Amino acid sequence: MSETVDRLVIRRPDDWHVHLRDGAMLAAVADYTARQFARAIVMPNLKPPVTTAAAGAAYRARIQAAVDPALNFTPLITCYLTDGINPDELVRGHGEGIFTAAKLYPAHATTNSALGVTAIDHIRPALAAMERIGMPLLIHGEVTDAHVDIFDREAVFIERTLAGLVQDYPGLKIVFEHITTAEAAEFVAASGPNIAATITPHHLAINRNAMFEGGIRPHLYCLPVVKRERHRLALRAAATSGSAKFFLGTDSAPHAVTDKESACGCAGMFNAPFAIESYAKTFAEEGALDRLEGFASEHGPRFYGLPLNDSHIAIERRAVAVPERLPAADTAIVPFHAGETLEWHYAGIVV
Ligand code: NCD
Ligand code: ZN
Repeated sequence: MSETVDRLVIRRPDDWHVHLRDGAMLAAVADYTARQFARAIVMPNLKPPVTTAAAGAAYRARIQAAVDPALNFTPLITCYLTDGINPDELVRGHGEGIFTAAKLYPAHATTNSALGVTAIDHIRPALAAMERIGMPLLIHGEVTDAHVDIFDREAVFIERTLAGLVQDYPGLKIVFEHITTAEAAEFVAASGPNIAATITPHHLAINRNAMFEGGIRPHLYCLPVVKRERHRLALRAAATSGSAKFFLGTDSAPHAVTDKESACGCAGMFNAPFAIESYAKTFAEEGALDRLEGFASEHGPRFYGLPLNDSHIAIERRAVAVPERLPAADTAIVPFHAGETLEWHYAGIVV
């Protein structure tokens, strides 16, 4: 990385966790991700979910058709694990280069997870196959037990499920997605090199008070829900630590403004339009801009066993105003940081 006071040049980053949706919404949001990131791990929680190699290949083609080819973007497709998942389908899809990874949603944990996994025992043959072929398991790590307080569901998931998985499949590559707690950061740091985590811009930027500041703020509601300040500080320490176990995953999850501002508002934050700007703000505040490149552009590909990107991007210290709303698919979406002025600006790909 080269650094002057006002301009950073880093290897082009990848987004290791994003929701690009489908249809008109896909067409509206895909380029926001593609203009910043060379590759993205695309979540499979569509309706219906992506559970076969054929569905994965078709979704990849729809994403490629939606993205401006000049942006040079590669979507990496994931398979949605269900109780009935066929391990041979996973192995074949991975072998054919369609599935980069598979995603475990505990049933009913989040948006479009109704067909997720009801008990780990149902997917043990799939996990054994993935361990054998080196296919990463991506986990939405929350218990779904309504008796567990929503702010504790991630920490309880570690005890009830994740610790056992790590023990039972010692060679399985696991990404604990969008971690939100000190407990998760500690668990990942203390585990072997095949256990990693993604961290979102918003979990680094806000704590749970922001959701209720002056009234209820539906655009700051996502899952896993943002936690107390001590957790935010632990995530910032993990992201800026330089540890190769932590890398960039935005969890950008767009929902129409009307679906967020509702009596039962959807979970998800749309941070793709100003993603690298948001991470740069956190790293600058932590005095760790020299570690942004590792987190954003190096740790992820190394974990996945993929090459680093050749191209570079520039980020400049120049005020950028985030719009209140962005038009999308006959509606609008409120981006993360709406109405704020950010100090670091994405200046594009440099050669
Ligand atoms: C995601 C979505 O809307 O698809 N929502 C979210 O709050 N993050 C699903 C998810 O990743 O949990
Ligand atoms: Zn997600």
